[in-house]
Amino acid sequence: MSVDVLLGLQWGDEGKGKIVDVLTPKYDIIARFQGGPNAGHTIEFEGKKFILHTIPSGIFNKKTQNIVGNGVIIDPYILFQEIKTLEKEGIEALNNLMISQKAHLILPSHRLLDAVQEVNKGKAKIGSTLKGIGPTYTDKISRTGLRMGDINGNDFFKRYNLLKENHLRLAEFYQFNDSELLIDGLSFFNYEEKWLEALEQIRKIKQINSEYYINEQLKAGKTVLAEGAQGTLLDIDFGSYPFVTSSNTVTSGVCSGLGIAPNKINNVFGVFKAYCTRVGSGPFPTELNDSVGVKMRNLGNEFGSTTGRARRCGWLDLNALKYSVMLNGVSELFMMKADVLSSFNELKVCTKYNFENKEVEYLPFDISEEFVSPVYKNLKAWSDQITEVSKVDDLPDELISYKKFIETYLNIPISIISVGPDRSQTLFWK
Ligand code: GDP
Ligand code: IMO
Ligand code: MG
Repeated sequence: MSVDVLLGLQWGDEGKGKIVDVLTPKYDIIARFQGGPNAGHTIEFEGKKFILHTIPSGIFNKKTQNIVGNGVIIDPYILFQEIKTLEKEGIEALNNLMISQKAHLILPSHRLLDAVQEVNKGKAKIGSTLKGIGPTYTDKISRTGLRMGDINGNDFFKRYNLLKENHLRLAEFYQFNDSELLIDGLSFFNYEEKWLEALEQIRKIKQINSEYYINEQLKAGKTVLAEGAQGTLLDIDFGSYPFVTSSNTVTSGVCSGLGIAPNKINNVFGVFKAYCTRVGSGPFPTELNDSVGVKMRNLGNEFGSTTGRARRCGWLDLNALKYSVMLNGVSELFMMKADVLSSFNELKVCTKYNFENKEVEYLPFDISEEFVSPVYKNLKAWSDQITEVSKVDDLPDELISYKKFIETYLNIPISIISVGPDRSQTLFWK
């Protein structure tokens, strides 16, 4: 069998977690392939709401195996908190969760470094989630990191201390106030104590060679869905660098993050919001710094799942979406949060950028407002509330036209429209 991929086409928070959970019954395995606890994937059903950071969003289905691949980075403390939260709600996460031995570990000192480096950037800060993502991937690439499988070795704590001491020495080069260094409200040493306790707990999770495991399962006819984190416009290579995350968030990340050959990839599901949001710094051509943007934020409840920060909001950027579709080889589109657009008088979508006195349909090297401005097309809005709609035939005509406009522009079908955060508020076209 082959692997399907589901990933975000914008700046993250498109609603990936919700849709993975909806599609889970169709798959034997759900696997995360990159990123770490900078992700916050929200799943709502039966009046309950869960936010997952490390654990794949297939965990609510007892029949599904969930795998954290080698491309993911793991903070044992955050992972253990997630497991405890799920267990409190009666979900035995440990029964169907496996982790690659090759997944790298986020140490408390990686989080410390993330904090001091971000403070040091001053106004140029990235707006990182401060989960230690940049420093951990830096160690991976520098070949100095520690991996999940290392925790089984007799010399683990020796290696841990060596790496920690290096990080602490490096941190001393930066200037900061101690108050800027709290990790989840705790001092470094208090956090480290909890991290070390959690490390003992996560030894219970089955460790595997995920590349062998997944390929064997595929040979045996099992189906796999790879769950992306962040979004294409935050990709380390193709995003608005340096305001990006530190991993490849695009489809190619599935190959290196799970050990799957490119010819094993079948469908690529591209998830996007009916508008755009971004959290943290960096260019955002269609951003609305006015009351319309504030209305979108309030109606869409656009506050970060991981950090609680207010998300910046703006109109749908089709020029950027076309770029994402190209990079990922998207075969089907899923449009999320269509309900949020129900109360606007007029809708705009960006189809081109003004760049160097021309209208262009590509993303130039720098998409800051200094260089590009959006060219909009006005589309008709709908006023009907659609959160209760359960059949596509009952959707307003203007929303169907909005959908068709996007499909024609991108030449890809939209096969799901989401009209609310709950699992049940999902409309399918086939
Ligand atoms: P992810 O990181 O891509 O999984 O997305 P997040 O969970 O960070 O953010 C998406 C937010 O939108 C969450 O609060 C979801 O519960 C919510 N959500 C998802 N789909 C819809 C939808 O169709 N309508 C509305 N109103 N909310 C949605
Ligand atoms: P999910 O999977 C939205 C953003 C941060 C910051 C930049 C770098 O929930 O869609 P990092 O912590 O990686 O150093 O932050 O990337 N960012 C996200 N924004 N959703 C996410 O994940 C994100 N993960 C990172 O806000 O701007
Ligand atoms: Mg999120």
